[in-house]
Amino acid sequence: MNAKQPLSQQGREAYSGRIKNFSKERYISGDWYEREWRAMWSKSWIAAVHVSDVTDPGDYVVFDLGRESILLTCNGDGAVQAFYNVCQHRGVRLVDDHSGHTENFRCPYHSWRYGTDGDLIYAPHQEGFQEGLPAERICLPKVRCEAALGFYWINLDPDAEPLDTFLKDMLPIMSHYEFENLTLVQDQTVSINCNWKAVLDNFSELYHVHYLHPQHRRFVDCTESLSECYEGGHTRVWVPGAKTDSLFSTPDKPTDLLTMQLQSLGLDPASIRGKGRRNTGGDPGCQTGLGRERTLLR
Ligand code: FES
Ligand SMILES: [Fe+2]
Repeated sequence: MNAKQPLSQQGREAYSGRIKNFSKERYISGDWYEREWRAMWSKSWIAAVHVSDVTDPGDYVVFDLGRESILLTCNGDGAVQAFYNVCQHRGVRLVDDHSGHTENFRCPYHSWRYGTDGDLIYAPHQEGFQEGLPAERICLPKVRCEAALGFYWINLDPDAEPLDTFLKDMLPIMSHYEFENLTLVQDQTVSINCNWKAVLDNFSELYHVHYLHPQHRRFVDCTESLSECYEGGHTRVWVPGAKTDSLFSTPDKPTDLLTMQLQSLGLDPASIRGKGRRNTGGDPGCQTGLGRERTLLR
């Protein structure tokens, strides 16, 4: 069996992960939520921050995962580490900002200070601690943190498999997107009052797009999209972009959104009429790459 071929293309026998219970309990049950936390969220590798978020010693980002708050810091050696964002004195949330730059972290309650490497470096009135303050033994509890694909990932399970093992076939598939070279231009958070699976379910299918978002036919081809399932529970949805939807007739000239895309590539939209040439490359992620034949219209 070719491990890089999606399970979803190897027939029903190969893919045994079919969901058999689609009851509403999946979306509303507190017990279900707890089981997800214990079996998945607290045991999985989660992409927490982009590598560009913590590049210099003293940079930090707070990443919230369910009931936990995780502090990712770049220490004095330039290494990125992750800690529980909890003061080890009385359990106060140590850092409230989402991100920033600092020499050390000061707890707002009794002013204990921790270095960017998580070690306790100062506590006021140490003489008042009758048994002594074992500063050399107090530090923020570490969380597993590893880098891949342009992100720092965290895992709350100290016994979790290495990140590379978890990502498996996703590494070669995702690496050509070169996420590590991306630059943050805008940061948006959208809060939706629903169970997280309702959103993920929706983005895992494009069956609805022709009807709910007909405007998308101007710049993506949902008819030719693919949803793929891989070993390890990974999934991928890819949609041919920079072309109109193949289910509908081809416009004679580029749509407004294709015009913008052509211009961003330094190409003249007025020179494109009718069907463009098909992309002959085998890589669905690079259909707009300069230097390849591009599908502009279909
Ligand atoms: S709780 Fe943080 S210093 Fe006391
Ligand atoms: Fe949608």
